[in-house]
Amino acid sequence: MPVIQRHLPARRLSGMLGKRAGEQRAYTWLSEGIRQLVANGRVLHGTMLPSERELVAELGMSRTTVTRAYQELRERGFAEARQGSGTRIRIPGGEIGGGTEPLAVGVQETLPPGGIDLTCGAPTAPLGLASYYERALDQLPGYIGGMGYYPMGLPVLREAIAEDYTRRGLPTGPEQVIVTAGALSGVATAARAVLARGARVLAESPSYPNSVTSLRQHGARMTALPIGPEGSDVAGIEAALARGGIGAMLCLPDFHNPTGTLLDNEGRERWARALVRNGVQGIVDETNAELWLDERPPVFPMAKYAEGLITVGSASKTYWGGLRLGWIRAPRALVGAINQVRATVDLGAPVLEQLVLNLLIRERSGLDEPTRASLRKSRDWLHAALGTQLPEWKVAKPGGGMSLWCNLPAPRSMALVAQARKASLVLSPGSTFAVDDHGLDHWLRVPYALDREQLGQALPLLVRAWNAVA
Ligand SMILES: Cc1ncc(COP(=O)(O)O)c(C=O)c1O
Repeated sequence: MPVIQRHLPARRLSGMLGKRAGEQRAYTWLSEGIRQLVANGRVLHGTMLPSERELVAELGMSRTTVTRAYQELRERGFAEARQGSGTRIRIPGGEIGGGTEPLAVGVQETLPPGGIDLTCGAPTAPLGLASYYERALDQLPGYIGGMGYYPMGLPVLREAIAEDYTRRGLPTGPEQVIVTAGALSGVATAARAVLARGARVLAESPSYPNSVTSLRQHGARMTALPIGPEGSDVAGIEAALARGGIGAMLCLPDFHNPTGTLLDNEGRERWARALVRNGVQGIVDETNAELWLDERPPVFPMAKYAEGLITVGSASKTYWGGLRLGWIRAPRALVGAINQVRATVDLGAPVLEQLVLNLLIRERSGLDEPTRASLRKSRDWLHAALGTQLPEWKVAKPGGGMSLWCNLPAPRSMALVAQARKASLVLSPGSTFAVDDHGLDHWLRVPYALDREQLGQALPLLVRAWNAVA
């Protein structure tokens, strides 16, 4: 990732620090305040702090106070001073690169140094996440006396998730919620609990490739049904289910990855009823449900229309992928079977992260506004930029999600990705998302979750690569 040079003006820092509480020593307030801004991702690694002289003038403090605060930051590893070039923020141990969405299974590429990763469709952590960790740490002593095994999840968190479903129109009890290590783990666990090896599983194509591969590795025989930029073909789904022989279906009605389409309530109800009518187990992956960018869509969780559906959720997109948490919301009759399978995979999720997620769900309940606003801006910018710079591409603007699903005028997606790779721009070709092992070379997924600066760097590389292969 390119190092971005940033200078933090004294006035801006003063605004971010807020007011000093009376009882705190001035230098402690200043160094602790800056440390908190770093911990919460508001001041980034490499940022140049204002000069001591500027800060003295801005804050009306003595030079000794500011010097001592900067010295304390340096001693704790949060800043470094270079002769003649001022004081720069450091993250102790250095900034850790990477941490992007795992590349789709089968595309095992590593990011070249200085490269831009457009295989990634996840936001960075919301502002203030570190303070949730701090508060969760305060709650940890209540759990330390026990063994720390909560195979179904912490009771408080299961309750928070159940209340969230109930609030969204799907009455749910905490006993129906099983906390997992993410949605992918949830889909894999649920599928193993309800599917015999060799069962046929229907999925829309394109789809989220890691879930498809996971189902396949469990022995599922995948059957693909096309989904286009206009969204799920409900009549096609009804017809495919009615033909019989299907054991389960993977459903992504919420800002489908990668097409970004959203299914309305009428479509959800028809789809859910068709699953029940044909005795097919629906596994609904709601990972992207909270990623609406324009208006909150008036849709219900699909299981509202058929209690027997299994719903899988995730903290990764709504809050942070680093929490590594998701959940399964199961019909009561299936909770035991799912839990038995789960106990063969792992014995529960980390307590601290569950405490963090519990606080996030109860206090934020969804994507925070700055993240939503920034995603909306990036989506609008990228959509408009592609429209002017690659007008021959057909690109719908999704109401949510994290990527644009681009229709190329020629089946050159794999060639384009290989070409872009030479300029250190890494992308996933459309075929990565195909359920039936072929096709979709007319399509490219371009995520807009990176910040505007990086998207701005990526676009000319993408345009150049396309012009070279088109
Ligand atoms: C549809 C879908 N399901 C599941 C996942 C994986 O989620 P998690 O990080 O919770 O395992 C993703 C991540 O991109 C996704 O888009």
